[in-house]
Amino acid sequence: MRFTLFSNNYLKYTPNLPKMADISVKAGQVKKSSTLALTSLAKGMIKEGRDVVLFGAGEPDFEPPREFDDSFYSALKEGKTKYTPVAGIAELRKAIADYSSEKRGTNLFRENVIVTPGAKYSLFLSMMAVLNRGDEIIIPRPYWVSYAEQAKLADAAPVIADSSEDFEIRADLIESKLTQRTRAILINSPNNPSGQVLKRNEARKIADMAIENDIWIISDEVYEPFVYEGKHSSFLSLGDDIKSRTIVINGFSKSLAITGLRIGYAIAPENVIDAMSGMQGHTVSNVCSALQYAALDVLNKSLLDSFSAGMRRVFNKRRMMMYSSLKKIEGVNVYLPMGAFYMFPDVSSFYSEKINGSFELSELLLNKAGVAVIPGAGFGADNNIRLSYACSDETIEKGMERLAEFFSGQGG
Ligand SMILES: Cc1ncc(COP(=O)(O)O)c(C=O)c1O
Repeated sequence: MRFTLFSNNYLKYTPNLPKMADISVKAGQVKKSSTLALTSLAKGMIKEGRDVVLFGAGEPDFEPPREFDDSFYSALKEGKTKYTPVAGIAELRKAIADYSSEKRGTNLFRENVIVTPGAKYSLFLSMMAVLNRGDEIIIPRPYWVSYAEQAKLADAAPVIADSSEDFEIRADLIESKLTQRTRAILINSPNNPSGQVLKRNEARKIADMAIENDIWIISDEVYEPFVYEGKHSSFLSLGDDIKSRTIVINGFSKSLAITGLRIGYAIAPENVIDAMSGMQGHTVSNVCSALQYAALDVLNKSLLDSFSAGMRRVFNKRRMMMYSSLKKIEGVNVYLPMGAFYMFPDVSSFYSEKINGSFELSELLLNKAGVAVIPGAGFGADNNIRLSYACSDETIEKGMERLAEFFSGQGG
């Protein structure tokens, strides 16, 4: 049996339903997430007994700290199971504000924080809060799959900016996309899928551009704990002039290895947080109550940084393992990423009439080599594929052997 996911129609899905059952134009425009779809397809193959190496995962393969589990169960036992304030319990909002103030060398207050079900919902609410119909939001390539879809749901137009050859985010390339309609710039560093980390001087130039042109910065910093070389530059650490027009998105999915539990947050000026709370109140009400208490406990016990530092050390070793194996494969062009937990090699030398881009190559890899990767096309970079090294050393070794064999058979 052949598993098919990556037909071209997949990304160009247009509903063709009988009149009575028509869905809205807005819903019909949304592309499904290629990362989630690929991972569930590959997991389905494993369930059927196929031997598949998973390099698709966008989540740490660690258990959360034991103290987190304990606090979560305790909260349930203590009956902390009722609705909470929409923007989050006051103690958690304050703890996040204090933690971020200290880390960024700035002053933040409870009123600057909203706790949402995952960072993804913070992102969505932030776009809904600051974008108007017809506004443009500049998003550097390669971009995480949900940004453009969320912008469209907010009735705005995503405008894609190029990055350098190795996917470094550059202010001048963003500036070339500015128009009268630009209302926001979305920056994701450390970046998914490229693994690149925004340089501080580029961050400052982007901040100046935002100030001069009266533009919002939405800065997605969820991979912040995973920087192996250089330093993470949060827009919150750049000074008060940019803080007043910055929305930082962060969360606990990656930093506490709890992707399935759904808790993230945004930090922004109070009026933006108010607007986001208004919309959260009418859509999801609040994040799971017990989960908020467990996250609070982790912050109060100062466990967050030490826990993520442990993961970072392991990821760094795997990063070097995967990089050195990929580098040896002729025709695969890979740079060493500075952060996150992904490699994003260029595999376009293997494209041909038979392999017409990253979707077809990924499909072949899955079916012929039993290796699940994510096609770069969904991230706006069809020459590339994304491999996650959030998996065991053995998985990396096995997968790299299979890739080497597969590619040597293709001829670069
Ligand atoms: C760049 C980026 N931003 C945001 C998210 C969403 O994180 P969460 O699980 O907290 O919603 C992800 C998840 O993969 C991501 O890769």
